[in-house]
Order: sequence, then structure tokens, then C-alpha cells
Amino acid sequence: MPVSDRITTAVLDPEDDEVERSLRPRRLDDFVGQERIKEQLGIALDAAKGRDEALDHVLLAGPPGLGKTTLAQIIREELGVGLRTVAGPALEKKDIAAILTAIEPRDVLFIDEIHRLNRAAEEILYPALEDFRLDIVFGQGAAARTLTIDLPPFTLVGATTRSGLLTTPLRDRFGMTFRLGYYEPGQLGTIVRRSASILAVEIEDDAADEIAGRSRGTPRIANRILRRVRDVAEVRHAGKITNEIAREALNLLEVDNLGLERIDRELLSAIAEKFDGGPVGLSTLAVSLGEEPDTIEEVYEPFLLQLGFIQRTPRGRTITALGRAHVGAVRVDGSLF
Ligand SMILES: Nc1ncnc2c1ncn2[C@@H]1O[C@H](COP(=O)(O)OP(=O)(O)OP(=O)(O)O)[C@@H](O)[C@H]1O
Ligand SMILES: [Mg+2]
Repeated sequence: MPVSDRITTAVLDPEDDEVERSLRPRRLDDFVGQERIKEQLGIALDAAKGRDEALDHVLLAGPPGLGKTTLAQIIREELGVGLRTVAGPALEKKDIAAILTAIEPRDVLFIDEIHRLNRAAEEILYPALEDFRLDIVFGQGAAARTLTIDLPPFTLVGATTRSGLLTTPLRDRFGMTFRLGYYEPGQLGTIVRRSASILAVEIEDDAADEIAGRSRGTPRIANRILRRVRDVAEVRHAGKITNEIAREALNLLEVDNLGLERIDRELLSAIAEKFDGGPVGLSTLAVSLGEEPDTIEEVYEPFLLQLGFIQRTPRGRTITALGRAHVGAVRVDGSLF
């Protein structure tokens, strides 16, 4: 199944993107959950504002859809400064130089997927982050000379789904590192109700809880499921979302009782059956599922690991007894045996 068909996917069509943006909390107070992060970040924001200084550089780490981009935008909003957003993989050294020389004091530079920065781009960042200085080298060998440009103090916000891949020198230059964890069902219920009210759709409390319980701890998934459920409620029913309609839509989406999708169940049963419980190497597993190894590692595995359904060992992936029990209890279409 191609990634784009999945509810978790980060690939969006423009219309989807627009709705997703409308659901994004703009202020720290509207950001649900992650209480420790909100508290620490709130203090740091107030302190920086009080001193009229740039906020320390912030690293946001965690699985997709938990609110890293949202928090980056909240930081900008709360500081009342400008924001430049760039994607790590596409960044060249010269792009960073161009962005940094144009940056205004206290602005936020947001680098998404910062673990995918190339080496040269990363190295030009070091002095910029530490001393607000840009060193540009002209020429080569004995004729080389360095031009140093002073930069205004700014804040780098980096986001990563793979903090383990960050180099130590880069990691050390962040004053604050926040790890976003999966959300509790109660918090997801709050997010679903908030989103429903923004989308102007009526939803019963137990329907919101049902969606929350099957959203894999992830606000983005909760919002995506809500929108698909809303479609079913509007097309097949009177528009209001009841628990029964929520269940009907979730069955249609093949989202099972734990929130796993078809591809998750296929991954589990591949390890259990094709590879006899494992260990199976990531690339072998990826080929057998027709997926990219990176997608499996970054998108599918984190929640399966969190559930204790699979394990990563040096020799590959294995399925646990819990994982086997789920394969035995749920059909591939998500219905219970
Ligand atoms: N704490 C929260 N409260 C309410 N809504 C949230 C929260 N966190 C995330 N969301 C919602 O989930 C959506 C996805 O969040 P976001 O884009 O910030 O995730 P991300 O961590 O940047 O994901 P990725 O790693 O894929 O870039 C947002 O559009 C927002 O509506
Ligand atoms: Mg993001």
C-alpha cells in the first residue's frame, strides 16, 4: 500500500494542508498536553521576552505528527518575531548563508528534518549558532581567506524524528531539547473536540473518545480520522457524529481497536509468519512490504515499539508475544476474529 493512502502519512495534498493548518493551535495555551514542555518553554519565552533577547536555540524531537512544527510556529507567534522555515535535506551551505545574512534580530529560523542536513551546511551553522557569526571562505589553499560576518542574535528551532542521527556538535548547540511523547487518550479527546468545533461539526462525547482511542497517541492522526468520520457522517447520515457513525467510519478505514492500520498489521504478520517471528533485517522486511526502509523505521515502527509488539535487535526485527497475540486476534481488514 503506498504511503499516501495511509492516515499517518506526512504527504499532503494542498487542500488537506489547508485544513490541517486551520486546526493548528497558534498559542501555547491552545497546545494540548505535553505539560512539562509547555511549562519549560513558557518560562524560557517569558524570560527571553522580558530581557528583550533572542530565545535560546530549541531542538524538538519526536515521532511524526506530535506537534513539532506546531510548536515552532507557536514559538514565533509568542515571541512576535519573523519565521523562516526550511527543510534540512534541501539546504546547501549557500542557502544557509543567504538566509542568515537576511535574518532580523530575534527571528526564528525553523529547520525541519535537521538530522538530514548535509555536512557543509551543518558546519557553517556551528559559529552562527554559538557566536552569531558567519565564516565565509573564499578561494583555496594558500590564497584562501575568510570573511567573517556578524549576525543578529536569532533562534534556531530544529525538528527531528530521529534525534539519534544528530551529530554531537550540532546537538550540543541547542540550549533546550524537548522530546515530544505520545499523547494520552484524554488529551486526544480534547484535541478531537477542539478540532470538531473549528470544523463546525457536532460530535458526541463518546464518539470523540472512540476516535481518540484509535489515534495511536498522535494528534495528526486524530484530526485525520475526525475528518474522514465527518465525511461518513455527512454523506451517509445527518451530519452529527455519533459513536456508531465513528465506529462505522473506522471500520471502513480498516483502523482496528488499537488504531493500527492495514500496513501495521501486514508488517506484524510478515514478521510473524513469513519470517517466522524474526529476527528479520529492515531492508528485507521493507522489500517484502513494498515500502521504503526509512518509512518503516520512522513512521510505522515507533508506535509498534511503544505498544511492545516488536523489538529492534542487532540482528533485525522480532515480534513479541503481545504482537503475536494481536495478529491472532485481528483480521488483516481490522475486524476482530
Ligand atoms: N498539542 C497539540 N494540540 C492540538 N493539536 C495538535 C497538537 N500537536 C499537534 N496538533 C495537531 O496535529 C497536527 C500535526 O502536528 P505537527 O505538524 O506539528 O506535527 P510534527 O511533529 O511537525 O510532524 P512531522 O514530524 O510529520 O513534521 C497539527 O496540524 C495540529 O493540528
Ligand atoms: Mg512537522
